[in-house]
Amino acid sequence: PDTPRPARFARVIAHRGASGAAPENTLAAFRLAASQGARAVEFDVSLLGDGTAVIFHDETLDRCTNRTGALSAIGRHNLANIDAGSWFSPEFAGEPLPTLDAALELIGALGLSANLEMKAHGAAPGPLARAVVDALDRHAWTRQRLTVSSFDHDELQELRGLSADVPVAVLYEEPTRDWRGFLADLDAEAIHLHHTALDGALIHAAGDDGRSVRVYTVNDPAMVSAFRDAGLEGLFTDHPPRFLSQRDWASW
Ligand code: G3P
Ligand code: MG
Repeated sequence: PDTPRPARFARVIAHRGASGAAPENTLAAFRLAASQGARAVEFDVSLLGDGTAVIFHDETLDRCTNRTGALSAIGRHNLANIDAGSWFSPEFAGEPLPTLDAALELIGALGLSANLEMKAHGAAPGPLARAVVDALDRHAWTRQRLTVSSFDHDELQELRGLSADVPVAVLYEEPTRDWRGFLADLDAEAIHLHHTALDGALIHAAGDDGRSVRVYTVNDPAMVSAFRDAGLEGLFTDHPPRFLSQRDWASW
């Protein structure tokens, strides 16, 4: 079958939204990314204890909210009391911890493309992939402009089992020896990897297989400029203006 892939995917991708200048994984960070000129955002999706899918990176509330404790210890009814902005700056006080549905509604309205990264936090695979597929079904734009990734490859396999046509990208810190076979088995459109694992041979091999290569997290354009015109397909950055303000990157 043809590998499912997003029809359009911008190359400079705002990591957790414009997280260099706004609290990560919030609606404010997505709006700021759009106003900075970024055309794509990456964000993390975790489940609350009641199964609600939310935009959140960590297993606990400690780092990025005004509360402490496990994300799995709260449910949707607790979200109204959570401030996911003050930890970053008083300017963002009261910023909500978004549900996945709220994020998809906003990102769709902004016309951005998106990389949804599933964070299972060690839970058995299944419920997270199910929640993601259900949410994507409620937001038609995602069919054209979204790819789902995860470091948790079992969760990606669950997702593929639930949907043959959702675009999928496999995340690695360091690719395993059999990464090409795994991407083929999963019918993945892309490999996402840490910038230190990027090399020309990998880009070449991915290209031969018809797959894209994107790297995280790159905040200094000089770190990847050698790969810009050598087949690198995208990068995740906390600081989109550092790229978009340079002609070579803006027209990449
Ligand atoms: O999806 C790319 C990147 O976000 C992976 O690492 O820890 O920032 O979610 P992390
Ligand atoms: Mg992420």
